[in-house]
Amino acid sequence: MIPTGEIRIAPSLLAADFGSLAEAVGHVAGSTSWLHVDVMDGHFVPNLTIGPPVVAALRRHTGSFFDCHLMMTNPGDYLQAFRDAGANLVTLHVEIGDTEELIAKARRVGLRVGLALNPDTPLAAVEPFLSSIDLLLVMTVFPGFGGQDFMSEMLPKIAQAQQMIAKRGLLVTIEVDGGIDKVTAGPCACAGARIFVAGHSVFGAARPWEAVEEIRAAIVGALDARPLDF
Ligand code: DX5
Ligand code: ZN
Repeated sequence: MIPTGEIRIAPSLLAADFGSLAEAVGHVAGSTSWLHVDVMDGHFVPNLTIGPPVVAALRRHTGSFFDCHLMMTNPGDYLQAFRDAGANLVTLHVEIGDTEELIAKARRVGLRVGLALNPDTPLAAVEPFLSSIDLLLVMTVFPGFGGQDFMSEMLPKIAQAQQMIAKRGLLVTIEVDGGIDKVTAGPCACAGARIFVAGHSVFGAARPWEAVEEIRAAIVGALDARPLDF
């Protein structure tokens, strides 16, 4: 049996009803301690979503761990605001550059730090920063919109990332985001992912809390069924 403490499901609020976000948070609060907040600036990605004021408003409703995925060209200008709003971790995209400086700035304001890479960005782009981050987000769709199909061709990239992290003895957790459901989560877990962002598969379900449990059960089942490596 795989201890479920080793995996996290992070429901993505992007797929929730924006008119009832606090209610959506309540729907999953009993099933998982993480929430994924997709911040889009209409520039890094062609969509606009939410920012620090909404994070602050949600913080008044929950003690959940806020995993803020910053799809922005200028996250550095907002890191303090996200921290003040109650964010726990911010994930920056490596494609925007100034990565070392941004990681340092996020740490200075007291945030945990993730680094994301798009499907067409090679792992080599994040390699130099692996020792200074907590989480590596391997995107399994091109960012910008929820409800897209999982890109199974990202599975080898997840496995390579896991090997790269293990070889260096680092404590970096791999997160996957995009098209994650009870079918795709298992293969991602076997490749090395431990945090699973799930938007439509959770908030598109009639009972989001059951959807979280189904995804978790699929992951535990897939990990448990792996062949022994000795
Ligand atoms: C996509 C976002 C995702 C999105 C995932 O740009 O980063 O977090 O909400 O949504 P689903 O799970 O519906 O693919
Ligand atoms: Zn996301």
